[in-house]
Amino acid sequence: MKVLKQLALAASTVALFAGVAQADGLQGKVVGFSQIGSESGWRAAETSVTKLQAEERGIDLKFADAQQKQENQIKAIRGFIAQGVDAILVAPVVATGWDAVLQEAKDANIPVILLDRGVDASEDLYLTSVASDQVKEGRVAGEWLVNTVGDKDCKIVELQGTVGSTPAINRKQGFEEAIAGKANLTIARSQTGDFTRSKGKEVMEGFIKAENGGKDICAVYAHNDDMAVGAIQAIKDAGLKPGTDILVVSIDAVPDIFAAMVAGEANATVELTPNMAGPAFDALDAYLNGGTVPEKFIITESKLYTPADNPQGEYDTRKGLGY
Ligand code: AHR
Repeated sequence: MKVLKQLALAASTVALFAGVAQADGLQGKVVGFSQIGSESGWRAAETSVTKLQAEERGIDLKFADAQQKQENQIKAIRGFIAQGVDAILVAPVVATGWDAVLQEAKDANIPVILLDRGVDASEDLYLTSVASDQVKEGRVAGEWLVNTVGDKDCKIVELQGTVGSTPAINRKQGFEEAIAGKANLTIARSQTGDFTRSKGKEVMEGFIKAENGGKDICAVYAHNDDMAVGAIQAIKDAGLKPGTDILVVSIDAVPDIFAAMVAGEANATVELTPNMAGPAFDALDAYLNGGTVPEKFIITESKLYTPADNPQGEYDTRKGLGY
C-alpha cells in the first residue's frame, strides 16, 4: 500500500497502475484468484499487483497457487465455487480443457475473468478477458529484429514459453509473421524453455553447442525476459558477448532485462503490464454494481523498449513497484 502511494506520483507508474479505483463497490466482495505459479519475475509482479489492487478496493482475495498444473487450477476453481465467492479470476496455464469447470462457474452464477492468457472455450463461459495482444507482442519483437539486422543474414534461435499456453502460441505466430518474406532471417532452432530462467539457460546451452559454439547464432528471441536472462548467462559462459555477438530480444519488461540493457547485454523487450487486475476489478465493479457487461477482450499495451529508452530509469521504477 505504502509503495503504491509513493509511486503514484511517477508518470510511468500511472501507466502501470492505471485502473486503481478511488472508491468502488467491491468493498467486502470475495474474489478467488487461481494463479499459475511463480515461473517468472513477471508472474510474481502480477501476483503482488493483484493483491495490492484487491487490498485497495477492500476485496477479500482468496489466492491459490497452482504450481504450473492445470489440474490444481481446476481444483481451486471448484473450491471457489463451493465457497460461493462473488467472482473468480484465473490466469489459465494452458489454452484447452476449461469448458467443464467454466460451465460449473456459470451454472453457479459466478462471473469468471481471465487474466493474461486465453482459453479455447466458448466466450459465453467467462465475463471478460484482460490480456495483451500476444500476436502483436511477437510481431513487435520480430519487427525490431528485422529493422535492426537490415540485409544481414541472421540465424535466429527461439525460446518458447510453456507448451500449449496462449502466449507461447501467439508470440511465436506474431514473430513469424514479422519475419515472413525476409529470406535473410531464419529461425534455425526453436524449443520450449517453459518461461523459466533455468530452462532458458539450459536450452540456450544446447542451441550454442549445436550452432558452432554459438558463433553461427545472430539473435535469440525469447518469449519472456526470464528465459532471455538465462540465455544471456549461457552466451557469456560460452565466451561470447550477449547483446553484441548475439542479439537478445524478449517480452515482459521486467527489471532484470533493463539491468541487462544497462550492461549492454540485452537489446529489446516488449512491455507486458503486470496490472491485469486493475482493469479486471473495474469491469467486475461495473458488472456487479451497474449491470454493465464489459467488452469480451480488454487489451493492454505492448510497448517496445530498447537501450535508448532510459533502461536505468525503467529498472529503478519497476524495482520500486516491488517486482
Ligand atoms: O502469460 C504471460 C506470461 O507468463 C509472461 O510473459 C511470462 O513471463 C509469464 O510467465
